[in-house]
Amino acid sequence: MPIGSPYFWSDLSIIGHRTLVFGGSGLFLCQNHLLTNLYMQLQALSPAIHTESSDKTRLEIEHLDSLMCEYRELTERPGTAHQLGPDALALAKSLGLPPVLTYEALILMNPLDTAPRTFLTDEVGRRDEIAFYRIHFEIERMLYPSIRMLIDTLSHVRPNSESFAPIGQALNESLQETKRKMGEMFRTLGVDSFARMRPYFMADPGRTDAEGRTYPGPSGASSAAFPTIDLLLGISSNESPDKDAIRPISPWRGYVTVADLNEARDLARSGRTVASVFTDSGSRALAASIAMTLSQFRQIHAMTAKRYVPELVDGGVGTGGVASPLHYLQGLTQRTKHAAENLASSGTQ
Ligand code: HEM
Repeated sequence: MPIGSPYFWSDLSIIGHRTLVFGGSGLFLCQNHLLTNLYMQLQALSPAIHTESSDKTRLEIEHLDSLMCEYRELTERPGTAHQLGPDALALAKSLGLPPVLTYEALILMNPLDTAPRTFLTDEVGRRDEIAFYRIHFEIERMLYPSIRMLIDTLSHVRPNSESFAPIGQALNESLQETKRKMGEMFRTLGVDSFARMRPYFMADPGRTDAEGRTYPGPSGASSAAFPTIDLLLGISSNESPDKDAIRPISPWRGYVTVADLNEARDLARSGRTVASVFTDSGSRALAASIAMTLSQFRQIHAMTAKRYVPELVDGGVGTGGVASPLHYLQGLTQRTKHAAENLASSGTQ
């Protein structure tokens, strides 16, 4: 049977058993995986895992289920020992995913349209949790096309500003829409629901992988989209790979991944950013406008973080492993705003 054949994946899925059921009824059931042999077979066929298939999607959901099951236990029964068994750890490894609940697994791999996985099980909580995941998902999907096109444009031997104009406008519009969605979430997401779901996202301080790396919990800070925009615009020279292990990796779903981010890093290293390549006044003005929209998004986002996690004001920790999250978010907002102002002033000279 050829590697990557759908038949192969169908066979594998028979080996795996459902780990748990998260349902509207609140029923959930944690069982040990019986994924014997799966790990070995996945290892042997690791290139195949990078092809999209519904069977692979099922394995990813199984991965999500086992982690949510574990995080539920750890959160609801403090002091419980880690439960992720060797099969679940092996599945994570085979999928190329870290053995923790990442932003990608929880939000971007969660089957929100068909059978959403949530921690909260009451009607209001579940509705709010799904809406919270959906907004991240939509933002990631919306930003992807123009970011990808911008990477391609900057990668051309001779990028020209005419090709930048429509892509830059599309990116700006997507960021405007991102801002709008954040504002809508600010008005509609229940503070109480968020306070109830957040403990499940908190970093699992005990989890380390075979190489001894520890991982933070799921957070928008793991998004690859925003640091990629920063790099492409020349706002930051983000060289820091510290979060790369928990950034999205799946290239076929239409969101920015760590591979795109790495391309942007390469471009920035070789001096190919919007700010340095497109120096005519029209392009500068457009770049300034994009950066300003991004800074406005960040401003709304920082206000949102403060509203939903008031303890951040007194130095409370975020789920994404940032030392003083509010300070970090406000600093980032200011830096983005300054970059926008610099671009605007250089565009008028
Ligand atoms: C109730 C809603 C939200 C809260 C309370 C919140 C909170 C936070 C916090 C505290 C951080 C700092 C890193 C950490 O420790 O986790 C952060 C980072 C971040 N969040 Fe959110 N967030 C929310 C919604 C969103 C949404 C809807 C997005 C959209 C994709 C998002 C995207 C980001 C990004 C990109 C970062 C990294 C900083 C940046 O590049 O601006 N967040 N968030």
